[in-house]
Amino acid sequence: MSAAAPRLLAVSDLHVAARDNRRAVAEIPPHPDDWLILAGDVGDTPDQVRWTLDLLAPYFAKLVWVPGNHDLWAPAGTDLSRGEARYEELVEICRSFGVLTPEDPFATFPSADGPLVVAPLFTFYDYSFREALLTKEAALELSERAGIVCMDEYMLPADPYPSREAWCAARVAESRRRLDALPPDARTVLVSHWPLRRDTAQLKRIPQFELWCGTVQTDDWHIRYRAAAVVYGHLHRPGLLMRDGVPFHEVAFGYPQERRHYGITQVGLRDVLSTEPIPMPRRVTRP
Ligand SMILES: [Fe+2]
Ligand SMILES: [Fe+2]
Repeated sequence: MSAAAPRLLAVSDLHVAARDNRRAVAEIPPHPDDWLILAGDVGDTPDQVRWTLDLLAPYFAKLVWVPGNHDLWAPAGTDLSRGEARYEELVEICRSFGVLTPEDPFATFPSADGPLVVAPLFTFYDYSFREALLTKEAALELSERAGIVCMDEYMLPADPYPSREAWCAARVAESRRRLDALPPDARTVLVSHWPLRRDTAQLKRIPQFELWCGTVQTDDWHIRYRAAAVVYGHLHRPGLLMRDGVPFHEVAFGYPQERRHYGITQVGLRDVLSTEPIPMPRRVTRP
């Protein structure tokens, strides 16, 4: 009997700080032939990331991880590592489980249509998803007046960088250096917690939050680096968008309260090389 063709699966925003989410993650069944991309916001602490990888690493042929903003949170007054030191701590935790990170050589997934370079990226955000005529300061002030301020402003230190924008600039440069070194015919799957394009980060009800959702510097990367698929999270708006013929998969699981009215309790793992329409969850009406 031949083994099933491996699938490239993805999920993000598992947010295992929430008890209901831990329960759901613990119910993910083994997929011994498949790869799983974890596209950021696994948890709020290194211990929560370790708990998740300990559970999932034995269940998949390979795990691929990128950091999300929550994974980098370090509230003042805690002894959690901060900024780049935190990122490096998480990379070391991943490596202890054999999990691929943005610091490791890219791995090649054997898809039915040929090899695909899976590229985990940590590109971050720099407040450039804003109206062209506004400065960053003006955009932040307008957001604050609208009552929309991302918790990162209080919880995500950028040490030793002077700002999150400076850290973003360094990360974009490093990511480009790695991607530019690929053979010119290599096809890729680009993986980032933050959306690579502004037009895949639109939040109709809270457009102010887009400030914390990415950088315009990655806008054309799906073409420049020959992407067969782009995987991201952060928005907690799971779905599939096509841009220039490339599927962009938002794969967030999200918070229990976001799923409650859809009655979703199980973690769905997206096959990112499939562009089958995603069935919309039905709203559950409770008495
Ligand atoms: Fe999230
Ligand atoms: Fe996030």
